[in-house]
Amino acid sequence: MSIIEVDPTDFIITKKRKKYKFALFHNSPICFELEAWQKRDVDIVELGAGTGLFSVELAARYPEKTVVAVDVKADRLQKGAQAAAERGLKNVYFVRARADQLAEVANGASVGSLWITFPDPFPKKRAARRRMTHAHYLEQYEGLLRPGGALYLKHDNREFFHWSLEQMVASGWHVGELSFDLHDSELADDYKILTNYEKRWLGEGLVTNFVKALPKSAA
Ligand SMILES: C[S@@+](CC[C@H](N)C(=O)[O-])C[C@H]1O[C@@H](n2cnc3c(N)ncnc32)[C@H](O)[C@@H]1O
Repeated sequence: MSIIEVDPTDFIITKKRKKYKFALFHNSPICFELEAWQKRDVDIVELGAGTGLFSVELAARYPEKTVVAVDVKADRLQKGAQAAAERGLKNVYFVRARADQLAEVANGASVGSLWITFPDPFPKKRAARRRMTHAHYLEQYEGLLRPGGALYLKHDNREFFHWSLEQMVASGWHVGELSFDLHDSELADDYKILTNYEKRWLGEGLVTNFVKALPKSAA
């Protein structure tokens, strides 16, 4: 019989480290639980932001814009908040919220760019409604986007990406810029800012699919 060696102190340290990260989130003046956040006009939202380092870089490039990184995981978001503080950024916030709560994060018709970066693909058919590009989410995003505003999606899973394009088209959205290999394309440099996930897997053969889509109301 094989014995799996588990060092209980490792477990305790991991738990403590998570608690420490939650404490960092709650002590940061730019991190908010949804209840404590005041809904406002937001120029750029990143949904399912993870560490939100992509948002931090956008905020650094556009100091006149308000940027909000949204994720359900506080321990991830605090990493971006630390990076933003180190860079002295005053225009980026980190809000712990779910995708279906976005209407409580940003005022309707205020968002210029809604980024969804490498969302969980939820491959099982019965979990399709949880995918952040499902038609019911698209309807919600449409209400948030200002005239001329757009949804931007990056993903490495081609199947998920195709499915997302189908959802967009079936919902009457217009597919704008599109690439099945973003980093080998001529598209804007901003789109190529690496997310944490992208940075981690790019060297392992990850290829980024990218689309900019406009809601059906954009004629
Ligand atoms: C694969 S990670 C990608 C993280 C980041 N966008 C990146 O590219 O590094 C997906 C992220 O989506 C978040 N997430 C999953 N479901 C969510 C939901 N319903 N609302 C908000 N965030 C969610 C997870 O917590 C996780 O951080």
